[in-house]
Parts: sequence; C-alpha cells; structure tokens
Amino acid sequence: MYQLHSGCQLIFSYGQGGYSQVNIGTLNPPPGPNQGPNTGGPNTGGPVTNPQVWANIRQRLVQLVHPQLNDKLGPAFLRLAFHDQGTYNKSINKGGGATVQFMLNEPQNGGLERPINALKLIQQQNPGVSLADLIIFAACVGINTLGGPSITFRPGRRDLTPQDAQEILNAHPDKNLLLPKPNHEELMRTFYAKYGFGDREIVLFNGAHTLGHTNIPDGKFRGWSRNMQKFDNDYFVRVYQEQWPVFPFPGAPGKNFWKTPDDALILFETDFILRTDNSFIQIGQDYMRNNDKFFRDFAQMFQVFGELGWSNLGNPVF
Ligand code: HEM
Repeated sequence: MYQLHSGCQLIFSYGQGGYSQVNIGTLNPPPGPNQGPNTGGPNTGGPVTNPQVWANIRQRLVQLVHPQLNDKLGPAFLRLAFHDQGTYNKSINKGGGATVQFMLNEPQNGGLERPINALKLIQQQNPGVSLADLIIFAACVGINTLGGPSITFRPGRRDLTPQDAQEILNAHPDKNLLLPKPNHEELMRTFYAKYGFGDREIVLFNGAHTLGHTNIPDGKFRGWSRNMQKFDNDYFVRVYQEQWPVFPFPGAPGKNFWKTPDDALILFETDFILRTDNSFIQIGQDYMRNNDKFFRDFAQMFQVFGELGWSNLGNPVF
C-alpha cells in the first residue's frame, strides 16, 4: 500500500457524507443556531472575547507568519485550520475543536506538529484562550498578512476532548477510499457536501493552494502558484494558463499528478478537476479574472467554514 499524500488522504478518508446540496453560483449563508453543536471541553470557563487579548495575539501571529522569516508558518497555519475544522460533518454537527491534536498519527496530518506547537505556546501565554480559536484565527491572520483579505473572526470555540475526536473519526469510517478513484469531480462534491458546500465553495477552497508548497510525490518542492507566500488568485491563473503535462504518481498505479514544463508547479488530481469539469471551469476562470471577487468570496466562505458547528460565538474581534 502506498503512502498517500496528506490532503488526499483527508479527502479519501472522509468522503462518505450524503450529497444533499449543489450550490452553483451563490455562497451558502452563515449557519443558524445549532441543534447539537460542538460542546464544551476541558478549557471551559468561558471563551476569551476581550478584543485587546486578540489584538496582542494578532501582533504575535503577524510576526510569526512574516514571509521574510522564511519559516513558512502562514501556509502551515492555513493547512492546519483545514485539517482541524475540516473534520466537521453536518451529520453529527461536530468537528474541529482542536481535535486535530489527537489525530497527528493520521497520515493526512503529517507535518502539523510545527504549527500546532507554535499555537500552543501562544495559548500558554494567554490563559483561557482555546487552541480551537487560535487555529482559526492564525489562518485568518496568515491569509491577511500574506496579502489576502481580512476575514471576520468571532471567538468562542472550545477545545474538544479525545473522546470527541474519536466520535468525529467514527463519523468517517470508510478508509477504503484511500484507493485512487477515477471520478474526482464527484468525489470532491461528496467530500464537501458534509459541510453543506457546493461547487463554488469547492473551487474557492482549492484556491487556498495559492499558499504553500509540497515535496510530494517525489521529494522535490513545488508550489501551486508562483509565489507560495503571497495570497492572491495566482493559483487560478496557473491552473488555466500553464501547460500541464501529466505524470504517473509514484507508487500509486492509476493515479496521476501534473507539473509545469519548468518543473516548478504541481497539481494533484483534486486540483486538476478545475480543468475538467464545466461548472468548476466556469467558476475558476471567473476567479482567475477577478482577484477582488476571489477575496470577497473567500473571506465570506472561510468565516462560514470556521464557524460550522459552533454556536454562541462572541462579537467579531477582527
Ligand atoms: C480537498 C482537497 C485537498 C487536497 C487533496 C490537498 C492536498 C494537499 C497536499 C498533499 C499538500 C502538501 C502537504 C505536504 O507536503 O505535507 C497540501 C498543502 C497545503 N494545503 Fe491542501 N489539499 C486540499 C485542500 C486544501 C484546503 C481546502 C486548504 C485550505 C483551506 C488547503 C490548504 C493547504 C495549504 C495552505 C498547503 C501548504 C502547506 C504548507 O506549505 O505548509 N488544502 N494540500
């Protein structure tokens, strides 16, 4: 059995929710009050909503993600947020809550210790602040500091327990999806349906790969955009304007990846769907042409995503 790369494993492991909603063209509204939300964890005692505390934390995070530091923590924080809050499943109305800290042995979570440890240090210095809030906030600050939109952040998430983590994992029991699948368009739709998300959100979410890089599958580092530490719509520009010869994914028969002729950029199968599905093409090319729209929609969607399953969040502190 080959070792699948991180994000793919997340997709293939977690894609069993029923596909209840296709939402082409508009963004889903923020969720209303929840019936069975994420419930309290060990760090209860009330969320920290004091804007001054968050202003201080923001200052620290801005320093940490500064591109000149070359620690590349901005992209890492964004990926961490996806791998934590991204375990949300509307069938149990639960996910995230920093449960990723109990799932670091899951293959898709390789490399996440570094951003988690950076945030745990900040948590220690700010008693009462939850790691769950910090994970979402760090992604927002990272995106904004690296040139992206300002994203509304409302604190109040609680850190969930190892038992919660198990419940969340049990809601995604089918590991057989680890095998390469021929129909990635529908696989992605099934995966995102567990958030109640449709085509526009899928395309927007793919645009997060404008940040960061990977040395999967062959040890050479490649990004998805021409500046891995700048948040903009260059991901979409590259998807549609570069040439993308195909290559077999090492150790995974039937699976492919794509890289540019200069060997600098990569697309995985879940990226390549933006070139093969008519609905995704229409939305993706719209964002390729309109960076402002990408920023507006991404900011709105990321706030919705970060609040899935959480009720009674405080007022925005940013
Ligand atoms: C659902 C399909 C996705 C797949 C298959 C996928 C796959 C991957 C893979 C394989 C990596 C490289 C990790 C490594 O080298 O260890 C990666 C990195 C990254 N992913 Fe995704 N990803 C997906 C969705 C997302 C989403 C939705 C976000 C954010 C909202 C995201 C944000 C990132 C970021 C920022 C990086 C770069 C991390 C860094 O440079 O430290 N990904 N992704």
